[in-house]
Amino acid sequence: MSENALYGGVTNRRVTVRDLAAAKERREVWPMLTAYDYPTARIFDEAGIPVLLVGDSAANVVFGYDTTVPVTVQELLPLVRAVVRGTKRAMVVADMPFGSYQSSPAQALETAAVFLKNGGAQAVKLEGGRSVTPQVELLVQSGVPVMAHLGLTPQSINTMGGYRVQGRGDSGEELLADAHALERAGVFALVLEVVPAELAAQVTKELSIPVIGIGAGPECDAQVMVWHDMAGLRMGKKPAKFVKQYADVGTVLADATRRYAEEVRTGGYPGPEHTYS
Ligand code: KIV
Repeated sequence: MSENALYGGVTNRRVTVRDLAAAKERREVWPMLTAYDYPTARIFDEAGIPVLLVGDSAANVVFGYDTTVPVTVQELLPLVRAVVRGTKRAMVVADMPFGSYQSSPAQALETAAVFLKNGGAQAVKLEGGRSVTPQVELLVQSGVPVMAHLGLTPQSINTMGGYRVQGRGDSGEELLADAHALERAGVFALVLEVVPAELAAQVTKELSIPVIGIGAGPECDAQVMVWHDMAGLRMGKKPAKFVKQYADVGTVLADATRRYAEEVRTGGYPGPEHTYS
């Protein structure tokens, strides 16, 4: 493994936007995950995941909201801090929640500054295409690395009318135009969520920045998953087609909980080895 590799490479400093650009140049495909707390951030960082996203998906998997629309900067900020404290190497990207950047470039900069100054994040993510390029331009001019997000953008669930594949037919051309506009505005990477694989492959080929897929097929430069989906902690929700579950953490935790409760009930815990004299 080369010491420049994003996955398994040098571990004595944080991953930067330049490292991600270099990985695209040498065609290294890399993994990204969400993280929302200290212990999981540490596990993912030590496993070599180069980029961790404190996603507004925290709305669903941490706070229990039905959509990502209600979650606020105040709710996400402590999660960003915890993830930063849990990492030494991973770049930490803070998701800007709905309503915290759309109204103006100045509002976007105010929110990004909170995540970078008070949260310690190294970059921010926002959803949208040509409508948010003024925001992207001001952020980038101000020294804030920006990750963009196109395709299924959950903050717009109320206008999309449901979680469904985006970019089919003519809307693929619109998505491609948005992707190019975002690249011109200066984003360092682009998330593509739930779009046809062929369209994602075209975007990945045409852009010089890394394209990170989630439900966007195998041709993207990187893949991202919500860790609860990857590890099997999705609380009764039917996983989307693109999810591959690598563990069943929910069942392991439920089993441990039942065994603990049973031992407390029957006197098996605490034993002499857990007791101070
Ligand atoms: O909020 C999130 O977790 C995301 C990923 C799905 C990319 O935006």
